[in-house]
Amino acid sequence: MADVSLRKVIKRYEDVEAVRGIDLDIADHEFVVLVGPSGCGKSTTLRMIAGLEDITGGDIMIGGDLVNDVPPKDRDIAMVFQNYALYPHMTVAENMSFGLRLKHYPKAEIRSRVDEAARMLDIAELIDRKPKQLSGGQRQRVAMGRAIVRNPKVFLFDEPLSNLDAKLRVQMRIEIKKVHQKVRTTTVYVTHDQVEAMTLADRVVVMNKGRIEQIGTPNDLYHHPATRFVAGFIGSPAMNFIPCRLEDSGGGLNIRLTDRIAFPLPPARAARYQGVTRTDRLLLGLRPEHIAELKAHPEPGIEPFEAVLDVTEPMGMETLVYFTLEGAQICGRVSPNAGARAGEPLRLAVDLNNIHLLNEVTGAVI
Ligand SMILES: Nc1ncnc2c1ncn2[C@@H]1O[C@H](COP(=O)(O)OP(=O)(O)O)[C@@H](O)[C@H]1O
Ligand SMILES: [Mg+2]
Repeated sequence: MADVSLRKVIKRYEDVEAVRGIDLDIADHEFVVLVGPSGCGKSTTLRMIAGLEDITGGDIMIGGDLVNDVPPKDRDIAMVFQNYALYPHMTVAENMSFGLRLKHYPKAEIRSRVDEAARMLDIAELIDRKPKQLSGGQRQRVAMGRAIVRNPKVFLFDEPLSNLDAKLRVQMRIEIKKVHQKVRTTTVYVTHDQVEAMTLADRVVVMNKGRIEQIGTPNDLYHHPATRFVAGFIGSPAMNFIPCRLEDSGGGLNIRLTDRIAFPLPPARAARYQGVTRTDRLLLGLRPEHIAELKAHPEPGIEPFEAVLDVTEPMGMETLVYFTLEGAQICGRVSPNAGARAGEPLRLAVDLNNIHLLNEVTGAVI
């Protein structure tokens, strides 16, 4: 078991700077997910930790040892890829034990490690099959089993579930979490899927254009995003962004969206935003769950307004409603019994206790 540290790590390919100076400390036993859009440098970062790519600048430490020049096979890591990379002519057991046999582990030790991993992954009855006799999900388990039997210091996963259908992906996600709860091996997991990141990670690292935007627990990132990129990337349906400005109103502060619509800010929020220049171009960041149907006895900070709905999407336990405000499409989440109908007005309410205010120019959350 080991911690992993990256210090100012850079990767350049000729004219592309794929990774632009990353600092990251991953604790022993921790499950860290690197998430971000395609091309943001996730795989490159993971491959540098694995030693599969040389680093252009900076340092990588595993278990306190500088590994910049240590070849992959001596880093004591195990990597699981999207395309399982199983040997087709070997059985499940042979695939899983391959690395250990190469290192001349005693037969009994190999046997017991393979049995243990197979039991953990629920593939014990498949042990004598060849990969082509397995489903995609089963192959993915074998690929994980092969990593587990090596008992490495660190697991590295690169989009391991991307080839599976949606239902199986959810199931395997839970399997991976169960396995980590048992073996507790330090894990770095790469995905472009923010739901996968949120559900698996102890801490999520949001990457954008070769840099780290923000690091935090799933709840940190959801409730306290630092930038517009993170605010918009984490959460589904995505956060709404509505152009707005602040205006003084009596002793308090209003947030003005349109000529017709302005909301008084609750005192705590007003105090927080008091220093913001009134003429600054701002964005109101509002998660869909903070736009709901108007209840009979609203709490303080919940303000009513009316909108004509463009589209409704019944999801069963809730209905998503879409309407337009100053040209922006806005999504809210209402009860299935709220009487939401496309083309008709609905009394809605905004929860101003849970807003985010962003600088429109810099994208920073204020
Ligand atoms: N071998 C390579 N040669 C040149 N450019 C590369 C190479 N590998 C990756 N890149 C570039 O580096 C950037 C990051 O790639 P990658 O780490 O694979 O992104 P991600 O895994 O987040 O989708 C991309 O712009 C990609 O085109
Ligand atoms: Mg990738």
